[in-house]
Amino acid sequence: MSSGTRLYREQVHETVTFLEQQLPGVPDIVLILGTGLGVLADSLEHSVHLDYADIPHFPRATVTSHAGRLVFGELAGKQVAVLQGRFHYYEGYSTRQITFPLRVLALMGARFLLVSNAAGGLDPSYAPGTLMVIKDHLNFIPENPLRGTNIEEWGPRFPDLSQAYDLDLQKLAHRCGKELGLHQLASGVYVAIAGPSLETPAETRYLRNCGADAVGMSTVPEVIVAVHAGLRILGIAMVANVNDPDNFQPIRIDDILAAAKRAEADFVRLLIEVIRRMK
Ligand code: HPA
Repeated sequence: MSSGTRLYREQVHETVTFLEQQLPGVPDIVLILGTGLGVLADSLEHSVHLDYADIPHFPRATVTSHAGRLVFGELAGKQVAVLQGRFHYYEGYSTRQITFPLRVLALMGARFLLVSNAAGGLDPSYAPGTLMVIKDHLNFIPENPLRGTNIEEWGPRFPDLSQAYDLDLQKLAHRCGKELGLHQLASGVYVAIAGPSLETPAETRYLRNCGADAVGMSTVPEVIVAVHAGLRILGIAMVANVNDPDNFQPIRIDDILAAAKRAEADFVRLLIEVIRRMK
């Protein structure tokens, strides 16, 4: 094992030990909340909050729209750990660093990952506020979090991604969305780009031609590690803006945050209902 991998493994185990002492239970579900979608953490009961800065070896969040804390508690009868604020490749972190918190929570015993993000729509039938259940992904971030020596006790060298996003959870999300009367619930392919610059019109056309329905700068590293760790995954992209290569409009972070704010109530209702019905 390389010294870098050995150190990473030690740090993960130190953090597992720390969190086992700090948290009153074992998380069953990990929730990673994307830009503007962090409010779900307020719905947790009997919650314990830990700032990332107070957790050994956790990276620090550098994006102001991400809170940077771990919230543990109960949601719809389940033990949930919320990563409120995540890390991105564009911040300068390696994808191993980005996925450090998830790896820790997986080793503590979590069985599910519910991951969300704010994304740009590529499917012209989408509108700002569409919630897209992720059915598959394209990884255009030029780094894989599993690169380097494989830690065999954490997962296989060549994890199978033929069905990274759990089919039953996708169906459950659609069922819940229908029953809640959410009109803007879609199903599509998410492409992760490195960022931080947004796409040009030509890149937008290219990504669409590649088969993507929404584009963002996150999620895929975490999903790869979650598959490696044997978690069942549900991904939801909140489409903040829709990018038409033939009539390209400037993409502003303020507009993205405003769209997230508007979609947040539907997003929270959907996720709580999904969690309530998860087995
Ligand atoms: N592109 C990439 N990431 C994004 C976008 C976008 O258009 N909107 C929100 N996150």
